[in-house]
Amino acid sequence: MKIAFAGTGYVGLVTGVALAHIGHNVTCVDIDEAKLELMRKGISPIYEMGLEDLMKKNNDRITYTTDYKRAYEDAEVIFIGVGTPERPDGSANLDYVYAVCDQIIESVKQDTIVVIKSTVPIGTNESIEKYFQDKRKDVKIDVVSIPEFLAQGTAVHDTLYASRIVVGAENDYAHNVIKKLYEPLTKEPYNVTYVAMNRKSAEMVKYASNCFLALKISYINEIANFCEKTGANIEDVATGMGYDDRIGNKFLKAGIGYGGSCFPKDTKAIHWLSREYDSELLTIKAAIEVNAMQKTKLFEKLLKDFNGDLKNKKIAVLGLTFKPGTDDLREAPSIDNIKLLIEYGANITAYDPIAENNFKKLIPENIEYASSIESAITNCDAVMIMTEWDEVKNFEVNKYKELMKTANVYDGRNCYVLKEMVLNHINYVSIGR
Ligand code: UGA
Repeated sequence: MKIAFAGTGYVGLVTGVALAHIGHNVTCVDIDEAKLELMRKGISPIYEMGLEDLMKKNNDRITYTTDYKRAYEDAEVIFIGVGTPERPDGSANLDYVYAVCDQIIESVKQDTIVVIKSTVPIGTNESIEKYFQDKRKDVKIDVVSIPEFLAQGTAVHDTLYASRIVVGAENDYAHNVIKKLYEPLTKEPYNVTYVAMNRKSAEMVKYASNCFLALKISYINEIANFCEKTGANIEDVATGMGYDDRIGNKFLKAGIGYGGSCFPKDTKAIHWLSREYDSELLTIKAAIEVNAMQKTKLFEKLLKDFNGDLKNKKIAVLGLTFKPGTDDLREAPSIDNIKLLIEYGANITAYDPIAENNFKKLIPENIEYASSIESAITNCDAVMIMTEWDEVKNFEVNKYKELMKTANVYDGRNCYVLKEMVLNHINYVSIGR
């Protein structure tokens, strides 16, 4: 099938390349010519395991272009995978989505199907279809909602071996075209489950899924905080809970809160929307509040232990990204913590295996960078672990004692076994243990 894809971010590029991989001809549209030139050479602008291999393997079925007119004019299906960032009031900003819609209106020469992959508020697909109908009465443009469930770091796998493909459409024709498009993924070796429904339900599935996971994290973080007060151990508690199939053992890892480009934005967007409908989602409100508090819990413990005085204290920050396996820093807890450390006059040395350059763009001053954990922690007064990179988890813990001025390790991701830290005489503070 001839497919066009608007946007070459995480969702656009990974899905576009995956669709080429299952046999479609895909044109990826973006405005950034320099980025497109890299992609033509098989170089991915984002760090994502397996993506470049897939780009190179399917290069003859993918075109990267700024020429949206040619891409959209005769495409059988046009996907929109551009960002829907957060507005100051928490609502989703749909400007990028509508900008692509305007380009589609300007370009299409035949009937087509537009698939909204961006995460959009309930009812948006319907509004977009009406927008098309008002502006282009000469062609039929069906709008279909296919929300995205890929996670950064495992995006390629999550797309090809998806947990499910949820398709929201309003007529049989649109449902049939999309079913044909995705058919290869529903067969061996992928065997992905295909779930058809109406558009509003599909839009809701996306928000409800992300918010449920965010809620699960905030819940386990609150229980972790309560474990600290009561003397229970959150890891044992999570293990004990996880054996119940109704609860499941995933997303029960306590830490310093969720970050990334999705959970923070989507929880706020659905909460905002629920208030608009006079049906406020109180559980989501609580998840947002708990997460905001959780992000600085570790810093508060450090500050208390240093009697409120961090001036000129040498603090190493290990890991900057919102999770391992990505160079993305959006809403990463490291940002809030580093800002606080700067405010309190600490001398910061940061280590991250891949995100140093991105972090320099965010906070250009007041941070030194180390190329290894060893050099980051040497002569430090305290270490703060923000991301559970393998390098951090596999670090020989006796080196903290050996290299730091005083072995104070504040671990926001529960990377180490408690007993081992005690045996190595490390003052170890983690979450919920
Ligand atoms: C998330 C969802 O997992 C995807 O299904 C969804 O498609 C995506 O958002 C999206 O809407 O685009 P992602 O943001 O890449 O994916 O990352 P996650 O792996 O879900 O992690 C999010 C945050 O939660 C991270 O900061 C992570 O450290 C934290 N987390 C996760 C925990 O603190 N504890 C856990 O047990 C799991």
